Formats: sequence, structure tokens, C-alpha cells
Amino acid sequence: MRNGLKAWAIVAVLAAGAAAFTGLAYEREIPAVARPEPASFDKAVVERGRVLANYGDCSACHTRPGGPAFAGNLPIKTPFGTIHTTNITPDPETGIGAWSTEAFRRAMKAGIDRRGGHLYPAFPYDNFTRVSDPDIDAIYAYLMSGVDAVRETTHPPDLAFPFSVRPLLAVWKALFLDRRPIAPDASRTAAWNEGAYLVEGLGHCSACHSPRNLMGAQTSPAYGGGSAEGWYAPPLNGQALSRQPWTRNELVTYLMDGWHGRHGMSAGPMTPVVDALHKQNEIDVFAIADYVLALRDGEKPLDAEAVRAAALKLEWGHPDAPAVPPEFGAGARIFAARCTSCHRSGGATVPLALQTSVNAPVPDSVKRVIADGIRPPAGSLGRSMPAFGQQLSEAEIDAVASFVRARFGTGRRLD
Ligand code: HEC
Ligand code: HEC
Ligand code: HEC
Repeated sequence: MRNGLKAWAIVAVLAAGAAAFTGLAYEREIPAVARPEPASFDKAVVERGRVLANYGDCSACHTRPGGPAFAGNLPIKTPFGTIHTTNITPDPETGIGAWSTEAFRRAMKAGIDRRGGHLYPAFPYDNFTRVSDPDIDAIYAYLMSGVDAVRETTHPPDLAFPFSVRPLLAVWKALFLDRRPIAPDASRTAAWNEGAYLVEGLGHCSACHSPRNLMGAQTSPAYGGGSAEGWYAPPLNGQALSRQPWTRNELVTYLMDGWHGRHGMSAGPMTPVVDALHKQNEIDVFAIADYVLALRDGEKPLDAEAVRAAALKLEWGHPDAPAVPPEFGAGARIFAARCTSCHRSGGATVPLALQTSVNAPVPDSVKRVIADGIRPPAGSLGRSMPAFGQQLSEAEIDAVASFVRARFGTGRRLD
């Protein structure tokens, strides 16, 4: 009898847990609508939506290489498996043509598709949840009337169990999704507040630049450095690794053109971000820069000239350059043969000692830049770096990356 009762108690607890979970995970289907008439949207709203979609890099993620714009199927590798981006063109069957504004808002702010399915946070709704409803509606207007409908079915995600179980994302959201809108800070300037809105929301800068926990959620310290597509996304906060202090103008130049003579070039996953900012209004990018620079408030200022002078002395071939430690012989030989046509004293590149990637705590970005090269961002088409992934073996890339980090990434302040 007592055992029977215990068993029933366990069943009751499990049932209550399952019911609570089902309640948590259940989201209703929002009825399909007829595709809205493109001409029914206000032209100014559509134009604003186009600009906002560009801030959100929607097309960078929702377009596969060589594929039709916004039709999805770009594979995104995550630590849990591969997810394909969806078709967000107004095709009613394979895209979002049958979605109402309400369904679209819910997807952007709560990560739920029209049918009620939970979406993976590889879609940065943990940032987009901060975007205002009128701005989300403008993006909707743009997608519905400014984008061609394309029929393309999205590949299902390729994730291992239990990550393949979408309803479990409800638990993830309960734990990690912060749905609070950004509170304006009256003690800051209007530009800072505008920057905060763009950086925290559509710009989703923290999606790459903040660390993530084991469950893949953004965690603290905010903007303390993270990773993206095998690259290291450096800290933007007070722990910034850049050997050169950034002025406001320098940061704007880097963000819009992807290159600055004191800081080098944006590479890897930062390039599409820069390509998008290149098309934007400078006033907005100055606001972004104000917010990003304020993340470093309170930092001891560096002496830019002293830092640069010290970095120039470290360049390859400089008479004062230190000797190569013998353990880096193999990497140094590859460097001398392959890299010094550009990276040398008196050359046209930014001194390697000033490159953030070279001073990063992990070799990821240096290895990626050697393997993939740098394709020029839209604003600095004249500059690029060749990819060595075909010519060098993985072991050779490791050797030259170790050499570069040991030789140029001094790990100490240069002033
Ligand atoms: C970092 C890459 C990335 C960016 C940037 C991004 N998305 Fe996505 N988005 C995804 C992924 C991945 C999914 C699919 C998630 C899943 O399958 O659970 C998705 C899903 C969606 C969905 C759900 C569609 C459906 O059929 O279920 C909508 C709507 C959407 N994104 C709109 C946008 C808009 C609008 C923007 C720009 C403001 C944007 N996305 C930017 C990666 C991205
Ligand atoms: C998809 C990932 C991703 C997103 C989104 C992203 N970044 Fe980056 N960012 C990177 C990576 C990776 C690098 C390193 C590039 C390199 O090594 O050249 C970088 C570099 C930078 C740098 C140079 C830092 C330094 O110390 O050298 C700045 C500044 C920056 N990002 C600002 C931003 C801002 C502002 C946003 C949002 C508008 C943003 N990033 C969004 C991945 C990203
Ligand atoms: C044809 C010229 C050229 C060659 C050859 C070259 N690079 Fe570069 N490299 C560049 C340019 C241009 C940049 C962008 C920064 C700048 O403008 O100075 C760069 C940037 C870098 C960076 C910083 C990347 C970042 O954004 O974080 C590293 C690290 C680097 N190169 C290493 C190497 C190594 C190692 C080799 C040899 C295997 C090599 N480079 C060969 C032109 C070159």
C-alpha cells in the first residue's frame, strides 16, 4: 500500500512537471493571412525598414552564398550542430508571406515561429527583443514589399539530441531571455542612447562580442570578448585588447570602411557587419561609436604615439627588432617566406603588434586570417590579404600563428 502510494506520488509529480513544461513550452499558432499587397505599405515606412534590416544584418544571415537574397539556407555552425537560416522572403509557402505583423513581432521578440514552434537563438532574437514595435513593423513592411518572393524550402537543422527538441528552448528562454526593453539613460547624451538602442538591439554586437555560457546564452562580462564562426571577437569593454586607443573618428572609420591605419582591417565575421554599416547614415554610426567607446569608461588612457613607436620597432627587419626565439624556427621560416612581402618594417600594413587578433588570449583569429585571408570590406576595396589555407598545412598554419603571437603579441602594454 505504502509503495503504491509512493509510486502514485512520483507519477503525480512527473505529470505535474510535464503539464507545467507543456504549459511553458506551448505557444499558439497564429492564423495564416493572405500575403499583404506590396503597394499597401507606406513608402517611407518601407524605406525605413530597409535601413533597419541592414542594421540587423538580416540579408547577411538569411542569404546563402550565391543564393537569392533573404531566401535562407545559409548553414550556421553552432557548438550544438548546424542550423540553416530560414526563407524570409514573402513567399507564402516556403517564406513568411502568410505571416501577420503579430506573428512577425512574436518571432523577432520571443523567437517563436508562426505555427508556435520555438526558434533557436542562432537567430539573435535575444538582441532583437529590444527593438521597438514600430521598427519591427517597418522591417516587416520592407520584407513584404521590397523583397522578391522566392520559393526555397529551408533545410531542417542538424542537431544532436537533446538540442534537436525545440520545446526545450522554452526552458532556455525562461532562464536566459531578457525581454526588458532598453531603458533610456537620462544622464547620457541623446547620441549615446541612440547608440545603445542600435548596438544592443538590431546591431546585435553582443551576439559575437560577449562570452556565452555552456547553454549558449550571452553572459557577463558584457562585451568581454566572444567567438563567431571560429574567430575570436575581441572585447569591446574595459578589457579591450587594442594596443591603440580609439578616438571617436577612428572607430567610425573602422566601422564604416573596415580599415583604419592605426587599427588595421576588419576580417572574418566582422566584415559583413562593416559592409552593412558602410551603407548607413554617419550620424547613426557616430552614435554607435559613442556607446561603444563608453563601454571603456574609466580605463587608463594609452599614449597613442608611444604605443605606435614601440610597435614599429617590433616589425620584421627593423634594426632594433628582437631576435627570433629558436623554438619558433619553423614558423619564422614560413613567415619570412610568405608574409614579409607585406608585413615588414617600412611596409604598408599596420604593425602586427597593434593588431588585436595578435594580442588575443586565443590563437583562433590569427589562424583563421592566415587560412582564409582578408577579403576587403566594401569601404576599403584596395586592401586585402591572400588566403594561405590551400598552400599551408594545418601544422604549418599553427606554427606560423604561434610565431606571430609570440613575436608580435607581446602581451604587455606598449607605452
Ligand atoms: C546571426 C544570423 C542571423 C541574423 C543576423 C538574422 N537571423 Fe533570422 N534567423 C536566423 C536563424 C538561424 C533562424 C532559424 C532559427 C531556427 O530554425 O530555429 C532565423 C529565423 C528567422 C525567422 C523565423 C522564420 C521562420 O520561418 O520560422 C524570422 C522571421 C527571422 N529570422 C527574421 C530575421 C530578421 C528580420 C533579421 C534582421 C533584423 C534576422 N532574422 C537576422 C539567423 C539570423
Ligand atoms: C558576427 C559576429 C560579429 C558581430 C555581429 C559584430 N562583430 Fe565586431 N568583430 C567580430 C570579429 C570576429 C572581430 C575581429 C576581426 C578581426 O580580427 O579583424 C570584430 C572586431 C570588432 C572591432 C575591432 C576591435 C579591436 O579591438 O580591434 C570593433 C570595434 C567591433 N568589432 C565593433 C562591433 C560593433 C560596434 C558591432 C555591432 C554593430 C559588432 N562589432 C558586431 C565579430 C562581430
Ligand atoms: C599581400 C600582402 C599580405 C601578405 C602576403 C600577408 N598579409 Fe597579413 N595582412 C595584410 C593586410 C592588408 C592586412 C590588414 C591590416 C592592414 O591593412 O595592415 C593584414 C592583416 C594581418 C593580420 C591581422 C588580421 C586581423 O584583422 O586581425 C595578421 C595576424 C596577419 N595579417 C598575418 C599574416 C601572416 C601570418 C602572413 C603570412 C602567412 C600574412 N599576413 C601575409 C596583407 C598581407
